Amino acid sequence: MNSKNPQNPTLRTSILKSSCFFSILLVVIAVFISFIIPQTNYIKTQYLNSTISPLLSRISRVLGFNRAIILNPSEPATESPNLLSNHCLLWMAPFLSGGGYCSEAWSYILALNQYSKTTNLRLSIWQHGDSDNLQFWEGLPLEMRKLASELYQTQCRPKESIVICHSEPGAWNPPLFQTTPCPPPNSRFAIGRTMFETDRVNPEHVKRCNAMDMVWVPTEFHVSTFTKSGVDPSKLVKVVQAIDTEFFDPIKYTPLDIPSLGNLILGASSTGSNSRNPFVFLSVFKWEYRKGWDVLLQSYLKEFDSSDQVVLYLLTNPYHSDTNFGNKILEFIHDSKLEKPINGWASVYVIDSHIAQVDFPRLYKAADAFILPSRGEGWGRPIVEAMAMSLPVIATNWSGPTEYLTKVNSYPLSVDRMSEVINGPFKGHLWAEPSVHNLMFLMRHVMSNPEEAKSKGEKARQDMMDKFSPKIVANIVSNQIQRILDKMV
Ligand SMILES: *[C@@H]1O[C@H](CO)[C@@H](O)[C@H](O)[C@H]1NC(C)=O
Ligand SMILES: *[C@@H]1O[C@H](CO)[C@@H](O)[C@H](O)[C@H]1NC(C)=O
Repeated sequence: MNSKNPQNPTLRTSILKSSCFFSILLVVIAVFISFIIPQTNYIKTQYLNSTISPLLSRISRVLGFNRAIILNPSEPATESPNLLSNHCLLWMAPFLSGGGYCSEAWSYILALNQYSKTTNLRLSIWQHGDSDNLQFWEGLPLEMRKLASELYQTQCRPKESIVICHSEPGAWNPPLFQTTPCPPPNSRFAIGRTMFETDRVNPEHVKRCNAMDMVWVPTEFHVSTFTKSGVDPSKLVKVVQAIDTEFFDPIKYTPLDIPSLGNLILGASSTGSNSRNPFVFLSVFKWEYRKGWDVLLQSYLKEFDSSDQVVLYLLTNPYHSDTNFGNKILEFIHDSKLEKPINGWASVYVIDSHIAQVDFPRLYKAADAFILPSRGEGWGRPIVEAMAMSLPVIATNWSGPTEYLTKVNSYPLSVDRMSEVINGPFKGHLWAEPSVHNLMFLMRHVMSNPEEAKSKGEKARQDMMDKFSPKIVANIVSNQIQRILDKMV
């Protein structure tokens, strides 16, 4: 679906820019290889296997035209300007995956890069964990891509490295799937940065957490669930996530034309001759049961019909599923025996095309309220992004989001009961069943009380700036790192 997206005039320049990045990267890797080959051992070979082979195949796929430059570099690899500092913070995360851990990791890196006061520390990043998504890379702002290539070039010697393994514990060394080992052997200090969406952590992950020197989690909810599951409480530290409140700032953007991006699945088109400027609900999620799309559809379709001036946009992408979301919605309606209202269905659109990272603020700007009736969240990035954009949000009052949802800054959605996870590796864990009744009530309420909704949205942005801005979170991370450094010397 994504690759057919025709509206990308910057694609060529993106490729050129990424080709530049990969050229530099390859030079660095070449230096790295020549340095390492004489003393090759198993771990290092594996390192090279898992980092370089995918890169090489990607480079030849995307940047084939540029191979001469890659093989015959005109510029030598540059040394890090700050070689004098003898400590290095190596942040290993799926920086190119476009998923949840990826955007979180970026939020820390951007914050640290701009605001870190720990001057005797070099910062380096390395791809680790989930696989790469070239389209995500191309959708990043140029500044971020430049920064990425700079930080990739900064080398950390293991013995001077504080390593952050920012991924699910299954990716930590020894990884349960193919990825770069984290922490690299002989690292000085290893921090696991992770989170989870249910009421507990499975024994394998507990073991992996306890093998780290320290474990960072984003919320009190995680401190509590990890401790209860057996993670050593003396290793657990809450380090909240940053939200880029300057990038996600509503005054800087005009709305994206979302009707033109969406596929109408139910109800009447909200564009066209009799368009009525409807109230726009937006939800952003991967198509998985955990996200509560069933709760959302049920509530919305029961509460509204075509006589309400309302429309629901679902920005979604597949999660171990095919992409025919329209069919899935129609099937769901059929299976759950929802009765078609006499006036006809309220409108539902699905957006399943790729939205570049740079366009996300404009997406939120096009909505009047954001909804995510999830059964469990680690943090809930789209929720905080919407809050930073001053949108009133309705989100389940359980798990990660309890760190930032309040009655004053949002509409916390109540939970009917806890339910068992019925599929997958976490079968038997518990998570929350958000209330359909309460969601129906809150959707109607937010639409009927625009002044209140607006003031909640403003409070939401204020809270994001006060508690989770890059500057504040950079400070939290720097202080933690400084504490570790103090103990080392
Ligand atoms: C690296 O990859 C090659 C070819 O795919 C394989 O033969 C070799 O065993 C791998 N080495 C390690 C250490 O994983
Ligand atoms: C949300 O849940 C917390 C407990 O986790 C509770 O103290 C709070 O009152 C709830 N808020 C609302 C609005 O239901």
